[in-house]
Amino acid sequence: MSEHFLVTGGQRLEGEVSVGGAKNSVLKLMAAALLAEGTTVVTNCPDILDVPLMADVLRGLGCEVELEDSEVRITTPAEPKYHADFDAVKQFRASVCVLGPLVARCRRAVVALPGGDAIGSRPLDMHQSGLRLLGAHSEIEHGCVVAHADDLHGANIRLVFPSVGATENILMAAVLARGETVIDNAAREPEIVDLCNMLNQMGAKVSGGGSTTLTIQGVRKLEPTTHRVIGDRIVAATWGVAASMTRGDVRVRGVNHKHLGLVLDKLRTAGAEVTPEVDGFRVVQRERPKAVNFATLPYPGFPTDLQPMAIGLAAVAEGTSMITENVFESRFRFVEEMIRLGADARTDGHHAVIRGVPVLSSAPVWSSDIRAGAGLVLAGLVADGVTEVHDIFHIDRGYPRFVENLRGLGGIIERVSTE
Ligand code: UD1
Repeated sequence: MSEHFLVTGGQRLEGEVSVGGAKNSVLKLMAAALLAEGTTVVTNCPDILDVPLMADVLRGLGCEVELEDSEVRITTPAEPKYHADFDAVKQFRASVCVLGPLVARCRRAVVALPGGDAIGSRPLDMHQSGLRLLGAHSEIEHGCVVAHADDLHGANIRLVFPSVGATENILMAAVLARGETVIDNAAREPEIVDLCNMLNQMGAKVSGGGSTTLTIQGVRKLEPTTHRVIGDRIVAATWGVAASMTRGDVRVRGVNHKHLGLVLDKLRTAGAEVTPEVDGFRVVQRERPKAVNFATLPYPGFPTDLQPMAIGLAAVAEGTSMITENVFESRFRFVEEMIRLGADARTDGHHAVIRGVPVLSSAPVWSSDIRAGAGLVLAGLVADGVTEVHDIFHIDRGYPRFVENLRGLGGIIERVSTE
């Protein structure tokens, strides 16, 4: 049995929506719990499928994990297991973030490779070369990353690209290494800052979070802590873009608007009135959105995770937009589905040119990943008729209470089971 959404277009979104903790933060914070013996508590966890999946990965490593409402309690033993097998990690790619903590804590790790991804190949070469510079041997053997280190020591590491995952794994290994590590060209995403803050609460010595250079003084031991996950800027921006596309009026709560500086500026260029608020922001769009160019880049650039929403906005904007994808090479695959909905779109390499049309036209479409799925629902909101969005398990991996939230804003959406 699978499920799909029926989305009825034509409604203006209005009202208030709250977002939970960031998916791309919570999974790494849960992995960081491996670094300290005892009970670590992570609060403001989003109600998404990836959180129980990560809990299973940690259980497989010998942790006790309790999930209750928006809180996860992870009790890490004195000697965690170091083997995350294929059954545990196959369902989601973020599980690879246990690699750094395991190398730090057990001095060895075997983490199965999660396999391909619809948005493009996601190699681990930077994760591995960083760990090697810290003194770990790291190879791919029989479908697993195998790493071990007799002596984990500080190093100067320059990333060739500010990879989020590589920065996190190297950082989580370096906190328990002997001496000083400097990571240059580090990722600057707010989720990295969140991780640095939690590690420092645990007794780590990390400085420079949010800048291109992270400096880590290794310590011998970390202590468990309680930490609140930052709000999910990608979910928040999804609702902001939806407001703009539907000429709506939406107040988004539970997120730091400063994490969305460029995104909110782009909505302003599209003609929206965007007001930053203490705990979020408000987007009011009165006229048809105007065309906007987007180029995805590492933070503080425009997030690749919002590229499908940007295409949705461009698809109904007045004028022609150019969208450039600089982070994941296959992310434009989803444009085929947008064309099925009547978007006038053409891609060439990592560029897409979209000529806006006044209204899209409903059709059955298939999600290929979390963000593409959400982008297709947004497109369904501005399509004539009822759009069927299939493979919605992707959306459930990243968007808590998606249907309830959208309905709360006046959207017409139904979850339907397919036999
Ligand atoms: C994280 C996010 C994902 C987001 C992405 C970029 C999580 C769980 N996922 O993914 O939602 O879209 O950041 O903001 O946090 N690369 C290499 N070699 C490596 C590592 C990465 O070539 O060793 C390449 C990737 O193929 C990709 C680019 O670097 O083209 C960016 O990847 P990265 O920043 O590592 O993304 P993730 O951490 O996988």
